[in-house]
Amino acid sequence: MSNIIDSSSHSHNLSNLGNNLSSPHKTRMRTHLCGELCEAQVGEEVSICGWVNKRRDHGKLIFVDLRDYSGIVQVVFDPNFNSFSHEIAKKVRGEFVIKVDGVVKRRDEATINYKIKTGKIEVFAKKVSILSEAETPPFIIENRENVDETTRLKYRYIDLRSEEMQNNLRLKHSVMMATREFLNSKGFVEIETPILAKSTPEGARDFLVPSRLNPGRFYALPQSPQLFKQILMFSGFDRCYQIARCFRDEDLRADRQPEFTQIDLEMSFVEMEDVIETIEGLIYFIFKKVLGKELKVPFERINWNESIEKYGTDKPDLRYGLLIRDISDIFGTSGLKIFKDVLQKDGKVKALVVNEHSHGNSMEFTRRELDEFVNVAKSFGASGLVWMKVENDKIQSPIAKFLSAKEEEELTRTLDLKEKDLVLIVADESSKSSKILGSLRTYIAEKLNLLNKDEFKFVWIVNFPLFEWDEKENRLSPTHHPFTKPDMHTINLLESDPLKVKSLAYDIVLNGEEIGGGSIRIDDAKLQRKIFKMLGIEDEEIEKNFGFFLKSLEYGVPPHGGIAIGLDRLVMLLGRLESIREVIAFPKTQSAVCMLTNSPSEVKEEQLKEVFIKVVDGS
Ligand code: AMO
Repeated sequence: MSNIIDSSSHSHNLSNLGNNLSSPHKTRMRTHLCGELCEAQVGEEVSICGWVNKRRDHGKLIFVDLRDYSGIVQVVFDPNFNSFSHEIAKKVRGEFVIKVDGVVKRRDEATINYKIKTGKIEVFAKKVSILSEAETPPFIIENRENVDETTRLKYRYIDLRSEEMQNNLRLKHSVMMATREFLNSKGFVEIETPILAKSTPEGARDFLVPSRLNPGRFYALPQSPQLFKQILMFSGFDRCYQIARCFRDEDLRADRQPEFTQIDLEMSFVEMEDVIETIEGLIYFIFKKVLGKELKVPFERINWNESIEKYGTDKPDLRYGLLIRDISDIFGTSGLKIFKDVLQKDGKVKALVVNEHSHGNSMEFTRRELDEFVNVAKSFGASGLVWMKVENDKIQSPIAKFLSAKEEEELTRTLDLKEKDLVLIVADESSKSSKILGSLRTYIAEKLNLLNKDEFKFVWIVNFPLFEWDEKENRLSPTHHPFTKPDMHTINLLESDPLKVKSLAYDIVLNGEEIGGGSIRIDDAKLQRKIFKMLGIEDEEIEKNFGFFLKSLEYGVPPHGGIAIGLDRLVMLLGRLESIREVIAFPKTQSAVCMLTNSPSEVKEEQLKEVFIKVVDGS
């Protein structure tokens, strides 16, 4: 007990702790966080609180790994040191919450645990209090990787105790803080907009909320604060932002949740370059502040057309090559029926050249792998896939014998083919062949391990078409949303050839994921009305849904534009995580269910009556 210091020297020692002294975690119950203890506190009396990560009973000595969010420290219960504590420690189990008062001691060289940052010391318990007992947890936290996700979501409070989830949510917090810091410094004002809102078309279904005070009427949860943030520009706020919760009733995937968060901003008196520059500044700042990483800005930019042509998608992953090439010309006069038929119908013959030599030691693809590529292409909608590989300076392919010497020579020259290169060819309608090869490109990059997890490759996609053709509805639909301004260089085509009109929209893509999108907005009521009409919205409907907005455009509107960054996606990529559920504390499952609270759930008949709703068929 000789190294226990009295309370006066204790406080003196604390003042020598530098950073630790300013620890905001010091409370009346504890002096330190578990993970912050180190050799600097050797000899000191400390109080720590936390969860029992593990308990090992060695008969005489009992060891408890005590955990809080900052880390783990080993507590030793030695009957010779304090027999009463040793007795209590016998009762302690995993996930019990305890408070330990004890003395920090240096560990012997032989017992140092280099795996944890507190591994050079341990706390000898003088006193222990059980603050909360715990049932046997449904899974071991350290083993969460191997636990079924629905179980983790059901017991999310336990899953969230894991180091990974603690880090993920703190990472998100840091990104939010950096965002606020940067935008505040650029004159942005943070303004909230309604959650009980009116439906705005962002392309997904709305979540509706019945209004008790207005029978038969509904609010819609916002798919984004789009119209409100524009209106704030009309009101002269100049620049505003919001870390906005958005709600979309759409089919879920690993990168989609029904409620998610956007960094939403809007700026007045700006051109596209101003918004792009602001976002590059913001992302640069976030990466520097949060990861200590200096990104290269400005980011690359690719025209939408080129992106589709080269990568088969408007969300290209530029961490690797594998470009798509149009080789229709080579087969213009080909006798090959599969190509000739497609070309005659205005289709294209396109090729993906696999020439990245990262496939083990050689680029040798087995017959089985080639068959696999054919099947994968078919699963993406291809009617077939032709492969060619260069072996001993010759093109090997199921169609090799049908290739003329000229075609073979042109292929080699145009595609700059080298020994072992593989060419995968799809002949189909132009955009379809690009899309199929684009999906195959991603598949092969994963298979060949071309995705460098530590690389962050940003790219802006610009020059989008204003509209796309909705086959199902047989009408134009907006590529972004109906408030996007057409590019004035192409606006003369609005009536004659609307699909050729370009927009002032821009998307930002990181490693093949769309992390944000925005545009310069229409600031003229007449043009806005015209776009609504072109989208096939009837006058009456325009008035009902957008009357207020068209009206607001009539009282003096600054040129304005903005963007929304998907915060969850950005953090997921920053943290190199596989799913956005890893950066959301209480996410929904693929079927939009919260496993923890079991929502959505049925409600009482009276509740439904109050809002004038009758469930006709609950199935
Ligand atoms: P957009 O619909 O492109 O634009 O959304 C912006 C970004 O939000 C993210 N995102 C999602 N993240 C998780 N789950 C979802 N279900 C989900 N949906 C979208 C994406 C996307 O790039 N109002 C416009 C922005 C603007 O024009 O200012 C809008 O919402 O990363």
